Amino acid sequence: MKIGILKEKEPEKRVAMLPDGVADLVKLKVSVIVEKDAGAGSFADDNAYRESGAAVDTRDAVLKGSNIILMINAPDRDTIKRMKEGQVVVAAVNPLVNHDVVTRFAESGVTLFSLDVLPRTTRAQAMDILSSQATVAGYKAVLDAACRLNGFLPMFMSAAGTIKPSRVLVLGAGVAGLQAIATARKLGAVVEAFDVRSAVKEEVQSLGAKFVEVEGAIDDTSAGGYAVEQTEAFKQRQQQMIQEHCLKADIVICTAQIPGRKAPLLVRKETVEAMKPGSVIIDLAASTGGNCALTRNDEVVVVNGVSVVGESNYPSAMPTDASQMFGKNMINFLKLLIDDSGNINLDFGDELVKGTCVTHAKEIMHERVREFMNSKK
Ligand code: NAI
Repeated sequence: MKIGILKEKEPEKRVAMLPDGVADLVKLKVSVIVEKDAGAGSFADDNAYRESGAAVDTRDAVLKGSNIILMINAPDRDTIKRMKEGQVVVAAVNPLVNHDVVTRFAESGVTLFSLDVLPRTTRAQAMDILSSQATVAGYKAVLDAACRLNGFLPMFMSAAGTIKPSRVLVLGAGVAGLQAIATARKLGAVVEAFDVRSAVKEEVQSLGAKFVEVEGAIDDTSAGGYAVEQTEAFKQRQQQMIQEHCLKADIVICTAQIPGRKAPLLVRKETVEAMKPGSVIIDLAASTGGNCALTRNDEVVVVNGVSVVGESNYPSAMPTDASQMFGKNMINFLKLLIDDSGNINLDFGDELVKGTCVTHAKEIMHERVREFMNSKK
């Protein structure tokens, strides 16, 4: 059985698996073929892949010769056309939103597993690419903000006087938010965080940040650790409270989201206009509309001296470690698809295999994806 690794399309710098991961894959009794220059953006050259036991060949050879194809982002129309019925693709195509891609995969008869809809259970943690990549994003977001800021993050006491530490406000304390809090604290900032799930209060405090509370949140513990839609009255109180804290902040890191929905609007235009000139907002939710009213996806907007950064792919800016983590998640998932002799064995009785499979045998298998697609018709 042959596993193929495709090169991602620019500007993506990550690759689905680095040479170290290939060496682990080979131990599963499979052969591996890698597209030429697939690892170039992550500083892994073709020879490193060869030394790990892979063959390096053209994109065409990978597409024609692989039983399972690994990639990160959704392939373009031409790539899907060149795939064969019965092939298996493992990627992260955002199927709740990218309905055209799902339709093309279903029509092609290719089996698609999308790791971004993996059920978030304890057993799935080792395969959870949303968590690993959000960890990178939360870390890099703070570093980006620190570089753009007009001052220090830590307190400085020197012969030239005392500089007060910067204040960082983190909105949403999930995976990305908690990593942002930890990074900002390590850099010496005073950190506050807000989330509608009160369950995260202790985690926020244990990282040395203050938890900002807004009363009356709907905190649904049956929602599997995810936030749920809030009432209008709560949203207004929340925006008011966030405004008060934004006005004191030098950096605001936005990470609030509800899976599959447009990001909640937390920072209004008037709030940005009233913030300190020179302060920075990093909106990690930019690709789903943003938590800030002025965010533009993949752009930096400057309003009254406040920079609003809508970078949608921080993991690509830290491609080696992001690919390393992605590849490790991928291998842990592949172990569910490959039997002891190195052959494909799709066990749809396994909740993680079933919960991640988007298309199979020309059908859209994933219930939530089907619901989202039907609601858009
Ligand atoms: P997560 O689901 O672990 O955390 C999101 C948090 O937001 C949850 O704790 C949730 O309770 C909270 N939240 C939801 N609605 C809220 C509201 N109205 N007010 C306050 N908090 C609220 O998600 P994760 O993995 O931390 O990702 C966070 C965001 O970062 C997502 O939007 C994701 O798409 C994005 N992301 C961005 C990247 C980038 O490079 N820009 C890379 C990776 C993820």
